[in-house]
Amino acid sequence: MSKKLWGGRFSEGTDEFVEEFTESVSFDKELAIYDIKGSIAHAKMLGEQEIISKEDAEKIIKGLEEIKKEIESGKFKWKKELEDVHMNIEKALIEKIGSIGGKLHTGRSRNDQVITAFRLYLKEEINNIIMLLKELKKALLNKAKETVDIVAPAYTHLQKAQPIRLAHYFLAYLEMYNRDEERFKDNLKRVDQMPLGSGALAGVDFPIDREKTAKELGFSSIMRNSLDATSSRDSIIEFLSNCAICMSNLSRQSEDFIIWNSTEFSYIELPDKLTTGSSIMPQKKNPDVLELIRGKTGRVYGNLIALLTTVKGLPLAYNRDLQEDKEPVFDSVKTLKGSIIGMTKIVEGLKPNKERMEREAGGFALATDLANYLVRKGVPFREAHHIVGKIVSYLVNQNRELESITLEELKTFSELFDKDSLKILNPYYVADARNSYGGTAKNRILEQIEYWEGKLKES
Ligand code: ARG
Repeated sequence: MSKKLWGGRFSEGTDEFVEEFTESVSFDKELAIYDIKGSIAHAKMLGEQEIISKEDAEKIIKGLEEIKKEIESGKFKWKKELEDVHMNIEKALIEKIGSIGGKLHTGRSRNDQVITAFRLYLKEEINNIIMLLKELKKALLNKAKETVDIVAPAYTHLQKAQPIRLAHYFLAYLEMYNRDEERFKDNLKRVDQMPLGSGALAGVDFPIDREKTAKELGFSSIMRNSLDATSSRDSIIEFLSNCAICMSNLSRQSEDFIIWNSTEFSYIELPDKLTTGSSIMPQKKNPDVLELIRGKTGRVYGNLIALLTTVKGLPLAYNRDLQEDKEPVFDSVKTLKGSIIGMTKIVEGLKPNKERMEREAGGFALATDLANYLVRKGVPFREAHHIVGKIVSYLVNQNRELESITLEELKTFSELFDKDSLKILNPYYVADARNSYGGTAKNRILEQIEYWEGKLKES
């Protein structure tokens, strides 16, 4: 005879391999408090609807609350042979309060139970991620405020392109993480819908009240279709996708800082407490946190692909394959939260090397502006580009920087160069000339800082 909660129709016990292979309690116990929350709301509703007696409902709720305490204090014994978190808790309830505990599962299936607990968990974690992103945005805004008056080289193709005010860089990432946050907020609307009351797939043949359980559990709405509610995972996939996109932003920024932190660049210094040493080379101060954010991006992308692939060929409605939705989500939640915290600490702690950035922001990075000088005097851009190209090559051949050129020399390339052309050869002047909306000029940067100060105060 089988000892399982579902063992009625089985004449022999489950093969040990099958128990080991199919269990999920080793990881889905993470959902325990949400499962209990869902069960308490369900039991309360069953009592109020007189589907079970009020006294039975009260006994069930009391038993569940005791089990919750046992789990929180670490006393609860999880058993693999009971398969998953849900059956571990239900079995413990029956052991605690006797056969009345068996009434909890009236008008419910594990198929609507599991996804209810999962959505409760996810709602909480999405809110946690949103809070962490807000902290990161604050750190970026503060760093931007500190770096308005530092000019830095900006790159395209990892080749020095044009000077910017360093604050412009930090504000760029603020925009990206803000969109990440918006994506999570939007995702929340679809995660915040209650599947409970959908039964195994077709609904429930007891007079349940789904409005009541939704209100009790804090869901904003109820899922309309029981087949959809028990078997769709698209909102979960959307969450994994948001995690992957956010990690891609974190990873790119990590790469910038890794490059800037190298001895060759020396644009920033990372605080000792956020770096690690080498066991063999005493001179090293390694940016391991940043490298691990970059590295862990791989697994977060993988988690998205894993669940997409799991659901790909599934016939409606529930299939056991869907048990595979948990581990990718748990892993992405943990990895993303750690990565956001790590990046926040790095942004707060990094020290820009002003002299070095200033020096690198000048030189040939100013070439475009010299060309634009000629354009303002009526030279077609292509021609101006060509003339300045010649100037660059002339100086490179003599191993000279752009700032070393004299007015007389400039005039040999074009008669149109005047005294005022020399003032262009200054990265601050050039940065502030980019005065278009969204540009790097000081007044534009201050405008953006003001915008974000208002926004971050609001939230
Ligand atoms: N552990 C299962 C899961 O995570 C719970 C649902 C099981 N349902 C079933 N019909 N076997 O999906």
